[in-house]
Amino acid sequence: MSCIDSYLLLSAPLGDFVIQELPTQRLGSSEEKLDISCSHQEIKLSLVIPTFNEAGNVFKIIELLTESLERIIPKQYELILVDDDSPDQTWEIAQSLLAEYPMLKVIRRVGEKGLSTAVIRGWQVSQGVILGVIDADLQHPPETLIALWQQIERGADLAVASRHVEEGGVSDWSFTRRILSRGAQLLGLIILPGVIGRVSDPMSGYFLIRRDCLIGKTLNPVGYKILIEVLGRGSVRWVGEVGYVFQERQEEESKVTWRQYVEYVQHLLTLRFSLWPVRRFLRFGAVGFSGVFVDMSIFYVLRETLQMGLTRSAVLSSEVAIVSNFILNDIWTFGDISKKQKGAKQRFKRFLKFNLICLAGLILNVLIVNFLFNILGVNEYLAKLIAIASITLWNFWVNLKLSWRVTATQSNEK
Ligand code: GDD
Ligand code: MN
Repeated sequence: MSCIDSYLLLSAPLGDFVIQELPTQRLGSSEEKLDISCSHQEIKLSLVIPTFNEAGNVFKIIELLTESLERIIPKQYELILVDDDSPDQTWEIAQSLLAEYPMLKVIRRVGEKGLSTAVIRGWQVSQGVILGVIDADLQHPPETLIALWQQIERGADLAVASRHVEEGGVSDWSFTRRILSRGAQLLGLIILPGVIGRVSDPMSGYFLIRRDCLIGKTLNPVGYKILIEVLGRGSVRWVGEVGYVFQERQEEESKVTWRQYVEYVQHLLTLRFSLWPVRRFLRFGAVGFSGVFVDMSIFYVLRETLQMGLTRSAVLSSEVAIVSNFILNDIWTFGDISKKQKGAKQRFKRFLKFNLICLAGLILNVLIVNFLFNILGVNEYLAKLIAIASITLWNFWVNLKLSWRVTATQSNEK
């Protein structure tokens, strides 16, 4: 999708939610990181304002945003208002402001609806190095932008306006609304701890993010929570937070219904499964399966050819299977990671961890079978199957987190 002039009518279908590189970036080498301090960069910030039936707020929000941004990055920003063809003609009112506000751009989107998708459509036609989002109803104070921008200037990849840090808060929210908001956060921490746990206000709809963190990533937003989407799929390293007080809405109505809560859970689960390393897990499973054959054939040879004792044969064949699994996993399943951790010493360290985790898995396996069979009275074969499944998950997840752990420096090499 190309950059917009000042008014654009967007009609569905509109294609994937992928953020493109800037034309200037295409000129330089892809490694070249976009630098917000360089003056030749015309547009530093592209701030998207999603609107639906906000006729009563358009004037004020554009006026206040212009005031704040002219103070920090005069003429080097664009305000992209994305309206989903509001029945109250919000897009038309915004269009009437174009002459007075040269940094304003208006998108009228037809045939596609939703807060998060509106934001991404706005980012797709933007020209800024930094992308941002703010609500149109003045519940997000425009002046907080100044502190958010300072976070970006200090090097943050993502600067989030938070209600849950110092100087943060909500105006007079009912007890139910507070419980709902915190409950939603807790649910998120259970389903997606690695994403939701990275910020104090994952529900925030007010933040700035470096375009670099999203380039080439296919986003798949559902409902309202665009921040969770960029945290989950973007390559965000450093997060900065700024406290703000979520104001009471003065004009028009909130568009939040029970549907947004359902969409939130849907969004969490979609992200959960798409972030689950399915391909790697399948490879790990295949290697584990091959290990059964190695284990059985070595056991057979030790028993039948070398007449070795039962326990000794069982232990030895399991160990050979663990070694073979390690080699296959190190080369295939986790090849992309192990090749960044070169040298025999590193490999041996990974092998030791793998071995210990698998041995712990063996013990857990016996404990689970005994617990299910002796305590819960589950059929012994079903108990064994459950034990194998849980230990496969245990071996995969713990080895992913420990043996083939991606170090901080490696994650920067994405
Ligand atoms: N284009 C578009 N399409 N905009 C929409 C849509 C839509 O379908 N639905 C809502 N908006 C716009 C509204 O016009 C407003 O500018 C903004 O999105 C937020 O909508 P509200 O309905 O006011 O949401 P809220 O105040 O209850 O919740 C906001 O604050 C929460 C706390 O930070 C949202 O930003 C939430 O995401 C956030 O969690
Ligand atoms: Mn609101």
